[in-house]
Amino acid sequence: MGDSTVLGLVGSPNRNGKTNQLVTAALEGAADRGARVELVQMADHVVNACKDCLPSECEKNLKCTYEDASLEYLTQKILTCGALVLGSPVYWSETSGMVKFLMIKMTRIYARTAPLKGVPTLGFAVAGGSGNGLVSGLRPLYHFFQTMQMRAIGPVPSTRFNLNSALQRSRELGAELTGMVGAQQPFAGLEERLAWYDSLPYLDLNRTGERRLLAGIITAELGDNADLEMARGLAKADALLAEGRQIEALAEITRVYETGIKDWGRR
Ligand SMILES: Cc1cc2nc3c(=O)[nH]c(=O)nc-3n(C[C@H](O)[C@H](O)[C@H](O)COP(=O)(O)O)c2cc1C
Repeated sequence: MGDSTVLGLVGSPNRNGKTNQLVTAALEGAADRGARVELVQMADHVVNACKDCLPSECEKNLKCTYEDASLEYLTQKILTCGALVLGSPVYWSETSGMVKFLMIKMTRIYARTAPLKGVPTLGFAVAGGSGNGLVSGLRPLYHFFQTMQMRAIGPVPSTRFNLNSALQRSRELGAELTGMVGAQQPFAGLEERLAWYDSLPYLDLNRTGERRLLAGIITAELGDNADLEMARGLAKADALLAEGRQIEALAEITRVYETGIKDWGRR
């Protein structure tokens, strides 16, 4: 069914933006390992909103009930790939609309028959502004992969602050994905699948954890340019969290974040 191509989908209207860089880096890593790769700009194939063809005609027909050439184009690419890299910008702590519309329709049509079961995949959601939503933006992607019974690796929390290290990690994961192509690894059952997704890092962070992660990334990326108070603030926040003093910890994390944003501008 699937061939060996590693397919990269760029789910941003900005063709040369950060999403494109991350997806391209993964494909470069895959190509270095000998994979055939293909990159598709979703901006050229924007899926329409689901119109809810109750009682799920699409699920029976394995086809959207309404004409949607973009969905057909993307679906044909996805159903025949050997591995998938799906990238989205973070928009208000979520995916972009074009990525969301694709996932909504594909889930409706294919969740039951799971034609992508065991297909290796990797998702990116780049928080290119404030950095907020670096984890919550990833969750819908990984939920989609889980529902489609795909074998996901990663994720890599990606912001404008850690873009270079995220690009490096993306290349490595692209290579790793290539090693998984062809050897489809379906899950033995629902429990194994849920446990696999629960074992992936970052996705279960709560809001405080996500904000702590972001403040830590900015501090680390500033390196020698970081205000000494930032590392101290993070240590203090961790100690407060360990004592269950969440509000005070969050206040500390916010101070670190705000100092970091100022220092980032001054670098
Ligand atoms: C509607 C909208 C909402 C956004 N929301 C967020 C956000 O919640 N967090 C963030 O860090 N950046 C946010 N951004 C900034 C984008 O993540 C940033 O521009 C990113 O680089 C877009 O990816 P691209 O370069 O591939 O287009 C938002 C941008 C837009 C247009």
